Amino acid sequence: MTLSHHYQQHLSVEDVLGQVAEHFPAGPSFFELAPLDQLHIGGIKASARLIDLLDAQTHPRVLDIGAGVGGLMRQAAEVGFELVGLDITHGFNRLNQGLSALSKLENRAQCVTGDATHLPFADASLDAVLFQHSFLNMPDGPMVLKECRRVLRPGGRLVMHEVVSGPNSDAMTYPVPWAEDSAHSHLVSADTLKTQLSEAGFSLLHFQDWSQDALAWRQRQREKETQSTRQARLSPQLVFGERFITMGKNLVTNLADEAIKVVEIEASC
Ligand SMILES: C[S@@+](CC[C@H](N)C(=O)[O-])C[C@H]1O[C@@H](n2cnc3c(N)ncnc32)[C@H](O)[C@@H]1O
Repeated sequence: MTLSHHYQQHLSVEDVLGQVAEHFPAGPSFFELAPLDQLHIGGIKASARLIDLLDAQTHPRVLDIGAGVGGLMRQAAEVGFELVGLDITHGFNRLNQGLSALSKLENRAQCVTGDATHLPFADASLDAVLFQHSFLNMPDGPMVLKECRRVLRPGGRLVMHEVVSGPNSDAMTYPVPWAEDSAHSHLVSADTLKTQLSEAGFSLLHFQDWSQDALAWRQRQREKETQSTRQARLSPQLVFGERFITMGKNLVTNLADEAIKVVEIEASC
């Protein structure tokens, strides 16, 4: 199975856009879209923390690598950044573009289908790159970071909110949202990631292990997912299908078992 198939096999872009348009006729806010378009541990709060690491005055042109359906992009566009999202899953880009149009943000949040190992951007053309739960799918991390270094201008920033392997990585339980099984999960340890960044020419400015907060957040989400008697208007199931129930449960297990960790990183070049 290709990675794109893993992500878009249960997605009907037109159906989802139709539901969003029906629920929010005046256009959805990024807050209202969050249950659908923030496909990472920590939701809006985690995205806000990532955005706060950047300054829209000094680093306005931002590339979101593995942007998914664009929650972080629209949240950052709302506070003055100009976003381009790159994603290998074409169906996600179609949904992302459609959600930005409904949110009236299509001029500040655009997206392109492509592979992070061959970024379709000129040398030194961007101020910052973001990764949010996408580096975890990339088998050739060093090549991706080399590409980031190439497209960033001197003084550019790289920020990440990523899943890395924990001390008990052998206990990993699948499926998780980014992978049905180990074939598409390419987790490295936090130390390996730091080494890869350094070898690609980045200096580390900030590193934080966010795993405890991530576990608490995911446990709260899990309670909502299992106890809610009312069907939520928007949910990750619209993207992933019913298999998200098991994926969400496994995230809690993997965090609690320390098979995975969640980290926040800022680096400069
Ligand atoms: C778990 S999703 C996270 C999406 C989004 N960043 C978020 O947090 O909501 C991972 C995303 O990375 C994308 N991706 C994985 N490998 C990629 C690659 N080599 N190039 C571009 N996108 C990639 C996938 O298609 C998917 O949309």
